[in-house]
Amino acid sequence: MGNFVIAIDGPAGSGKGTIAYEIARHYNYYYIDTGAFYRAITYLILKNDISLTDTDAILALADNAHFSFKGNHLILDGIDITDQLRSKEVEKIVSQVSCIKELRLILNRHILSLAQDKDIVADGRDTTTVIFPNANVKIYLDARFEARIKRRYDQNKAKDIYSSYDEIRENIEMRDRRDQMKTFGALTLAPDAHYIDTTNLSIEDIINKIINIIEGEVK
Ligand code: DC
Repeated sequence: MGNFVIAIDGPAGSGKGTIAYEIARHYNYYYIDTGAFYRAITYLILKNDISLTDTDAILALADNAHFSFKGNHLILDGIDITDQLRSKEVEKIVSQVSCIKELRLILNRHILSLAQDKDIVADGRDTTTVIFPNANVKIYLDARFEARIKRRYDQNKAKDIYSSYDEIRENIEMRDRRDQMKTFGALTLAPDAHYIDTTNLSIEDIINKIINIIEGEVK
């Protein structure tokens, strides 16, 4: 038997980060937030003042980076940079960064090598389709547009990040467009994924639903 892989995809604000981490904790599995890889590279691009058109420099950053997780915290080259990943600056350009195909290939390699020999829960946009096409359980979490904006607004507020409702609406709209239109790794519903509309569900409801699905698949 190989390692057990639970892959969870969905659009921005669908709640997948919170849910995926809770599922990982429930089963004591390793959690891999694949969006954090794109955010980390974006953070490095900004920190090193690299132009978004300088693909070679961006790919070199990604090639040389070392990633791991401590719980749901991303450790980049030995340093916990989790707090830097949700800044407005990162948020603004991360979806553009995530459209660089060669970067996706490098980051997918990092993700797969981190997942090796572990039971994992991974979340992102293409974990159920490109990164882990043979995942044991695939979940697609969705929510209506307005609900996703409100969730991201509340999430930011709880983290003391101030963004207006309109700013978040614009950002999510733009990210949805980019997520769906990527030529590689676009957000799509895998035919064998369980689709859950979370708009009217509490976090506990969603977690219980997913645990029921997982237990059903294992039997
Ligand atoms: O899930 P998130 O909001 O942290 O993702 C950050 C960005 O990275 C978002 O624009 C989508 C992109 N992303 C991606 O292209 N592929 C993934 N597997 C995960 C995230």
